[in-house]
Amino acid sequence: MRKPVIAGNWKMYKTVGESVQTALALKPLVANANHCEVIIAPVFTALKTVVDRLDGSNIKVAGQNCSTEVEEGAHTGEIAPFMLRDVGAAYVIIGHSERRQHYSETDTMVRRKVQAAISSGLTAIMCVGESLGQRDQGTAEAVVKGQLTGGLSGLTASDLDRIIVAYEPVWAIGTGRTATPEQAQEMHAFIRRVFAEGHSRDAAQALRILYGGSVKPDNVGALMAQEDIDGALVGGASLKADSFAQIVNYRES
Ligand code: PGA
Repeated sequence: MRKPVIAGNWKMYKTVGESVQTALALKPLVANANHCEVIIAPVFTALKTVVDRLDGSNIKVAGQNCSTEVEEGAHTGEIAPFMLRDVGAAYVIIGHSERRQHYSETDTMVRRKVQAAISSGLTAIMCVGESLGQRDQGTAEAVVKGQLTGGLSGLTASDLDRIIVAYEPVWAIGTGRTATPEQAQEMHAFIRRVFAEGHSRDAAQALRILYGGSVKPDNVGALMAQEDIDGALVGGASLKADSFAQIVNYRES
């Protein structure tokens, strides 16, 4: 049984005060959510305060990015994964399409970040997904396969339980246009097959694959009912405690 993961990606939103306010509002609303792991990813500057204020709750905290470097050093503006551990984060989102598109992250950088994160004791939530043009050209699977193999090569069997994959079609992010549950399921099943080829069948069966892209309270149930969808990475609808809590407390439909 794969335990579902519902993760909120707060992107570059909220001050420390606003982050704490949202986190504290969320806490009682998801206190009984034992059916899934609940994760929020505030901006770096709010991480420590949010972790401290959530002490004793079932909400875990993620960074939204990390350095490719494992050790501290002369890397102005970067944050090493062990520094995320140091403030109490347990997860880190890596290779989000906004970072690939706007900050030129390549599969090689994504792979180095994934490896740095895992060796520092974090669980990496690695994002993959095709653009609309790529889907229209019929290359969606090839693109996603390239991102998967490029980002996840060189991992040992013991690393694999520290990997979560998020399938986020770029055309569905922040657009209000969700992939249909069938479209998402098809790609998730493909991702699991690619993972099995690259690693093992058992590892692929255990892999959690999240869907991301305009997940909302009213579509999460149908997505979660799909066999290979093991959770959601939520942007816009995670910024408000009540809508994110409704997503966490989904019922399959
Ligand atoms: P969205 O963002 O839910 O606002 O589409 C998802 C994401 O970028 O992770």
